Amino acid sequence: MKRTLVAGSLLLGSIALGMLGVFAGGPSDVESARRGLVGAPDEWASRAVWACDQRKLVIVEGVRPDERIPPDKAQQVADVLMDLMRFCNEEITVRIGMNQMMTVAANGRVYENYVPGGPLPIVKASFGEPTPRELSIWKAELDKLVAEGDRLFHSDEIGGNGVACAMCHPNASNTHPETYPKFQTQLKKVALLRDMVNWCILNPLEGKELPPDDPRMQALEAYILAQRSGKPLDVGKH
Ligand code: HEC
Repeated sequence: MKRTLVAGSLLLGSIALGMLGVFAGGPSDVESARRGLVGAPDEWASRAVWACDQRKLVIVEGVRPDERIPPDKAQQVADVLMDLMRFCNEEITVRIGMNQMMTVAANGRVYENYVPGGPLPIVKASFGEPTPRELSIWKAELDKLVAEGDRLFHSDEIGGNGVACAMCHPNASNTHPETYPKFQTQLKKVALLRDMVNWCILNPLEGKELPPDDPRMQALEAYILAQRSGKPLDVGKH
């Protein structure tokens, strides 16, 4: 969904560029729109890599879309993406050409010969301290999740037989979240905290396992971890 939105705005960007004469052909699809953004010939194979914010895109010429990027090129892509994260909210496309030259399209303008770390005339994100307002929003959101986990941990609705987690683990005692991942003999594998949560849901509680992205699993994990806040990680401890 988000990707579609970004692609859509890239398309709009390329239409704008087209009017400036940078983009010669008609933007018939997203891929040609991206190519148009950085003004490279259509006939070269290229592979696109998105940053995790889905707003920064690096296009590597000379690598087919179904081909793995060779290690030194892949490192170059990672370096460029990390560099571009300085410009937090901007949509930026970089094309690494066959000749190793980098072309950047940002805010509807094209810059040739870009050097990572170098200046770009766009707004740099400030990575300063969070504001008190941000901190209070973040805390309220976290508190909400932990409170829901607290409720579930003390309720019988996770299981099928009336038993609740807190009946055996008051205040999440003996859950040792800081020791995960670790090998658990009853599962015969290295387990994550959520695997043990599910093990207890299945066994004493006679409930149904929760998938990792189930909001109830996330709330239970948040509650258990919050009870051990400040405790150092001790991965694998038995
Ligand atoms: C009938 C008592 C009982 C209930 C109810 C119960 N557990 Fe457990 N739980 C245990 C026991 C006993 C172990 C120890 C198993 C082991 O490590 O061999 C355990 C282990 C765990 C562990 C791993 C602890 C560690 O030291 O590694 C977690 C996490 C856990 N339970 C979470 C939960 C959650 C979440 C619930 C509710 C969904 C729950 N338990 C319900 C008895 C219970």
